Amino acid sequence: MTAVHATTKPEVPVLEVRDLAVHFGGVKAVDGLSFSLTAGKIFGVLGPNGSGKSTMLAAVTRLVRLTRGELLFGGEPYHHEPPRAMAGLGIARTFQTVRLLEDRTVRENVLLATDDHLIRGRAARRAVAERVDQAIERVGLTKVRRLRPTELSYGMQRRVEIARAIAMNPRLLLLDEPTAGMNRQEREDISALMRGLQAEGLTQLIIEHDVQMMVDTCDHLFAMTTGKLIAEGEPRAVVRHPAVQEAYLGSRHGRGHARA
Ligand SMILES: Nc1ncnc2c1ncn2[C@@H]1O[C@H](COP(=O)(O)OP(=O)(O)OP(=O)(O)O)[C@@H](O)[C@H]1O
Ligand SMILES: [Mg+2]
Repeated sequence: MTAVHATTKPEVPVLEVRDLAVHFGGVKAVDGLSFSLTAGKIFGVLGPNGSGKSTMLAAVTRLVRLTRGELLFGGEPYHHEPPRAMAGLGIARTFQTVRLLEDRTVRENVLLATDDHLIRGRAARRAVAERVDQAIERVGLTKVRRLRPTELSYGMQRRVEIARAIAMNPRLLLLDEPTAGMNRQEREDISALMRGLQAEGLTQLIIEHDVQMMVDTCDHLFAMTTGKLIAEGEPRAVVRHPAVQEAYLGSRHGRGHARA
């Protein structure tokens, strides 16, 4: 028997952010941000330095207190959950700066992200180990999996962080400037990796200053200044938007000048 859908329900977004504000004293880092991420797409966030991109990500992963607003994951509010609940929900992230344990190998760093010590049963542990090895393979670090982060190039260290996030088997992957400090080839590799993950259905959000990479990689762009959205939509249209052009000209990121 074939399933017949009498009504087509509007698709529930993977993530929905409603009127989010995060103030640090007088600094309104995020100030009234609303957006939603539909399943299976690659979203990008552009914005000059200090426009609140990382703070938005910190709020979405519950690492900072919300001054105001609501967060919904798969339609369920989660803004009262602690940061440690994110993995269980299916939200994984990388940070703007490398955060790896220097005295552990690449593989151990990735394994530690999976809470493997909490997993009981040999079959379950084997499944986790397999996921870890697959994640390392995907980011192209299999050959160096027994090395320590200090023995790797900066670009490779950043890829270890992506492997850690992927190994958590997330439904939503959030990347904060994953290609900062990488050369053009390495950036293209990350872009290709993201598209590969998208083909498997993973919803992703990337923050980057490289406008060309963002246009090439993302299905949908958000542009922020001073804690607010100034434009969103089709990437080329967003980077051509006068408010986005203005926000980028005069910012100290010369390479961030919106051109596409
Ligand atoms: N923990 C904090 N305490 C106080 N102020 C903060 C804190 N975190 C961020 N800010 C401030 O909030 C504003 C937004 O910072 P945020 O790091 O979110 O910007 P960003 O868009 O990620 O910038 P960049 O492109 O440089 O990474 C800045 O003015 C910053 O100084
Ligand atoms: Mg940032």
